[in-house]
Amino acid sequence: MTKISAIDVDEMRVPEHVAIIMDGNGRWARQRGLPRSAGHRAGAKSVRSVVEESVRRGVRVLTVFAFSSENWRRPPTEVNVLMELFMSTLQAEIKSLIEHQVQLRIIGDMSAFSPKLQARFDEAQRVTRHHQRLILQVAANYGGRWDITRAAYSLAEEVAAGSLRLDQIDEAALAARLSFPDVRDPDLFIRTGGEKRISNFLLWQSAYTELYFSDLMWPEFDAAAYDAALNDFARRQRRFGLTGEQVVAKASA
Ligand code: FPP
Repeated sequence: MTKISAIDVDEMRVPEHVAIIMDGNGRWARQRGLPRSAGHRAGAKSVRSVVEESVRRGVRVLTVFAFSSENWRRPPTEVNVLMELFMSTLQAEIKSLIEHQVQLRIIGDMSAFSPKLQARFDEAQRVTRHHQRLILQVAANYGGRWDITRAAYSLAEEVAAGSLRLDQIDEAALAARLSFPDVRDPDLFIRTGGEKRISNFLLWQSAYTELYFSDLMWPEFDAAAYDAALNDFARRQRRFGLTGEQVVAKASA
């Protein structure tokens, strides 16, 4: 039997969890003389191809930043377009999510969304909850600081109620109170649109995540561009504080 070397193993490595900041919809539209809403609509198509490619490549969790806590500050007409797009995309894609065995999760503070949109999110999560092929987490009205603050609040509440001791507070205790603690931290974090920032996305969860920045605008980010990011990840060596030699020894053990 041919022995597989650590290098070959790395070449085949697929990130289990990919997180994406889908940036550049507005600029993509402006460059074409179109309204920003056209950029968001085109961006929804990129979400579809990245979801399909994730299923094909065996990614287990995909988390996309669809609407940040700060996006409420955009002009009301653009916020409305995005809300309508969430509604219509969910309606249009739910069949395909079921067909592909994709579990949908919404992460973020839902209370700010209209009751109608909240009901649509709830229903989509309910009907897909048993699917295991891919977990698609859509971050909406989400912020990394909001997530950490909420977890800290839960810890404080439990200590005040007497159900948690102060000396039980450690990293694992806080991490367990973040949104969806059952999925591992992202292995790969992609941001499109040319900016090199994390912008309050998965702050706690990205401590050791590999970062990948693409100059493509999100509507241009197709399956081939995503493949390039996955292949770039496969070539990287993740050390988690170990030496390079220790990592190679661990991989070939
Ligand atoms: C950032 O581009 C993009 C957004 C704030 C919205 C992303 C939403 C979608 C792609 C819609 C569908 C998604 C789902 C999952 C239903 P930008 O507007 O900040 O672009 P700019 O930096 O060029 O202005």
